[in-house]
Amino acid sequence: MKGILLAGGSGTRLRPLTNGLNKHLLPVFDKPMVFYPLATLMQAGIRDILLITHPADKPVFEALLGPGAGLGLKISYAVQEKPNGIAEAFLIGEKFIDGEPCALILGDNIFHGGDFTELVSHAAKRKSGASVFAREVHDPQRFGVVEFDGHGRARRLVEKPKDPRSNWAVTGLYLYDNQVTGIAKTLKPSARGELEITDVNKAYLEKDALNVECLDPTTAWLDTGTPEALLEAANFIQKTEQNEGRKIACLEEIAWRSGFITLDQMMAAGAGYAKTAYGEYLATLYETECAKNEKAELRVAS
Ligand code: G1P
Repeated sequence: MKGILLAGGSGTRLRPLTNGLNKHLLPVFDKPMVFYPLATLMQAGIRDILLITHPADKPVFEALLGPGAGLGLKISYAVQEKPNGIAEAFLIGEKFIDGEPCALILGDNIFHGGDFTELVSHAAKRKSGASVFAREVHDPQRFGVVEFDGHGRARRLVEKPKDPRSNWAVTGLYLYDNQVTGIAKTLKPSARGELEITDVNKAYLEKDALNVECLDPTTAWLDTGTPEALLEAANFIQKTEQNEGRKIACLEEIAWRSGFITLDQMMAAGAGYAKTAYGEYLATLYETECAKNEKAELRVAS
């Protein structure tokens, strides 16, 4: 499965923070926001990734993430000239997708904990249809909303309903089979002039091919849309990392744990982080693993 990471948008609600900087480059505690959705794609086993952003920001993302080889990834870059909507990603990315199944993640969506990683990995193995992930929220009018019938089956999808009939928001991670580009081509712009991702999901729902996975209450889905939400997200990451004693969205660690790179390559990828807490974390991980491997070798030898 391929993956598209959408890092466009104007970040209007975060101005003046976003006057001169793409929203997805803002810090969420100790990492740029874009690390978190990239980590989510990697945890789903996705290595071939297209990052779509504004023309002016493309060189900045290229400088930040490069071609991805150090992480065992292949990252390419494309631009969205105008804010024509999330679903335009499948038209911009048509060549990249090349008729394969494709995931899409919005660059401001941060997921952590619960059974999220297992849920996504499982969904990524589905051969056909689409999978979306829903979360109960108190302000559904801000999101794409899914309504369920009496048997818990998805019945209706509405983008930012004024009068929501359900509290279940559709989060910004979508997994699609190889039909997605064809579906995107049939879309017409909505009243706000955008190709809506909700219309892609509606097309799958109409074909009875939409799987809606409900996130368990212990999975965090963080909002980063306002300065308050951004600060809360940063505080959440800092506290959770401290409590769990491990880093969230440490790309080098995820690449190694996913088997994309070796332990030595993990250290090489993190070489630029010496003298930072991030670098120390990687060094400790490396030493602990080396010690484990040495012990294992001694056990085999004796
Ligand atoms: C977009 C989608 C919406 C979805 C949300 C998740 O909204 O249009 O359906 O629920 O992302 O973050 P936006 O953030 O572009 O307003």
